[in-house]
Amino acid sequence: MVFFAYSYDNEQDLYPSIQYQGCNTTHVTRSGTIIPIFHDHCLACHSTAISQGGVDLESYTGVSVVAGNGRLFGGVNWSSGFFIMPYVRDKLSDCNLKKILIWIQSGFSENLLS
Ligand code: HEC
Repeated sequence: MVFFAYSYDNEQDLYPSIQYQGCNTTHVTRSGTIIPIFHDHCLACHSTAISQGGVDLESYTGVSVVAGNGRLFGGVNWSSGFFIMPYVRDKLSDCNLKKILIWIQSGFSENLLS
């Protein structure tokens, strides 16, 4: 990463770049990005078979519902008026929140971001 070596003279420009480089949001896909986050943090309670609270994050049909009605982001963002998710666990990282938001705002496609 040559970038870091030559950028110390401009800390204000450098800081957002570090944030950006630490969080790769250039190619967010459901299969490559979203499902792995759900696998680590959500599917123990929200697989198709378990579906706690009636929420199935494993199937595309299920996740489309909460992606579309705002419940998915409201929950992981700990927004007021939503059940905070993941339930009784640490909040997702800012990077993971950003990826989920990008996926939702880009139309939560079943797989590839168009
Ligand atoms: C330990 C179990 C558990 C885990 C882990 C978990 N949830 Fe939940 N989730 C629940 C339960 C239980 C409810 C229903 C709450 C209720 O209705 O009282 C729920 C509800 C929800 C809802 C509906 C919220 C609403 O306001 O209607 C969403 C969306 C959701 N979860 C998403 C997630 C996501 C995304 C993750 C992972 C980041 C996650 N959950 C992790 C147990 C869990």
